[in-house]
Amino acid sequence: MHIVKGLVLALPLALWGVAASAAGDAEAGKAVFEAKCAECHYEDDFAGESTEEIVTMITSVKGGGVEHKGDASGLTDADIVNIATYWSSFK
Ligand code: HEC
Repeated sequence: MHIVKGLVLALPLALWGVAASAAGDAEAGKAVFEAKCAECHYEDDFAGESTEEIVTMITSVKGGGVEHKGDASGLTDADIVNIATYWSSFK
């Protein structure tokens, strides 16, 4: 998580538009999570993080800014917000 906080400042402003309006569809996010992420992640891996924080993390992973074993390259902006909404629903 420390790496990510350092990255936040470097992220393009456009991302803040996505993050600021983050209110996705948790059901749709769950479907993408189960198809592409559940092989390695638990659904509550990011419990306690806000939707905005998770959007920022997934965007970093997708953009290659954070080293990542999984493949997040095919995610759309909507997928990212939806997964973040799903993940942030766990406390
Ligand atoms: C092949 C296994 C694998 C798959 C599939 C995978 N991940 Fe990951 N992910 C990891 C591992 C392992 C980490 C811990 C950091 C690392 O070593 O890559 C991680 C870390 C992360 C992080 C935190 C990065 C950070 O900043 O600390 C995010 C966000 C993430 N994954 C999102 C996703 C999403 C979204 C998907 C589905 C589209 C996904 N991952 C699929 C293995 C995977």
